[in-house]
Parts: sequence; C-alpha cells; structure tokens
Amino acid sequence: MCEYCGCQSLTSIDELTREHDAVVALISRVRKARGEGDAVAAAGLARRIAAVLAPHTKVEEHGLFPAMAAEFPDQIAVLEAEHRRIEAVLAEAADAVPADPAWPDRLLDVLAQLRDHILKEQDGVFPAALTTLTTEQWEAVEAVRARAGSALPRPAA
Ligand SMILES: [Fe+2]
Repeated sequence: MCEYCGCQSLTSIDELTREHDAVVALISRVRKARGEGDAVAAAGLARRIAAVLAPHTKVEEHGLFPAMAAEFPDQIAVLEAEHRRIEAVLAEAADAVPADPAWPDRLLDVLAQLRDHILKEQDGVFPAALTTLTTEQWEAVEAVRARAGSALPRPAA
C-alpha cells in the first residue's frame, strides 16, 4: 500500500463494501426466517448483523464521516441517526429472542431501512469520499479500522 496511487482509499472502501454485502446477504436470510415464522433464527441473524456492523460503524463514524461532515453535515447527521435506530432494534436480540411479539416485524422494517441506508452509502458517501478525502484522512480511517477490527475473514491476498 502506498500513499500516491489511491490504493489505501480503495482498500478502506473495499472493506466497508464487503461488510455491506455480508449484511445484505444476512438480511435476505432474516426475511426467509420470518417467512418461516422462525423467530430464533431471526434473532440469531440479527446478532450476526450487529457483529458485522459494530466495527463497520466505528470506521464510518470515527474515520470516514468526520472527514466528510464539514462538507455534508446534514447527510452525515441523517446517516448517524439511522445507525442508532438500526442498532436499537438489533440490540433487542442481543441476549435472547425478544419477548415483544411485534419485534420480528419491527426488525424487518428496520432492515428495509438498513438496505436503503447501505445504498445511500454505496452510491453517495463512498464515491464522494473517494474524490474528497486526503491521504491523511484515509490514514485516519485506516487507523480506526486497525483498532476496530472486522467480523469478516480477511480476503485472500
Ligand atoms: Fe455502512
């Protein structure tokens, strides 16, 4: 990785994108579990989504978003509010299947919001970041990633 060719920025965005892809795949499995009335499976999948999102959200909120907040303050505030809303519903399943009978429907609803949120990041935030962040800002993103880790296996080199 060097600081001149942009590979650093592409590595950061690639890892965030792989996490989005993993989450989208898990969302499809939640829909299937919900269709089968399997709340235990849905809760287990909600925990897996939360595990992927925990380091992902740190990298966004402590690395990528601060670098963009000056230029896009309203958009970043909306994205962060969506993170909180999504985390709250996922967290209800942190220890067990939630007792609330409405939880599976609330989960599906918030996961639909998460899909839209991911599209906004993929189609808006990430392309904007690739054109606006400086090398120092990408290094800050990488430093947050190094601290936060990842729930995904590293890609084959
Ligand atoms: Fe994201």
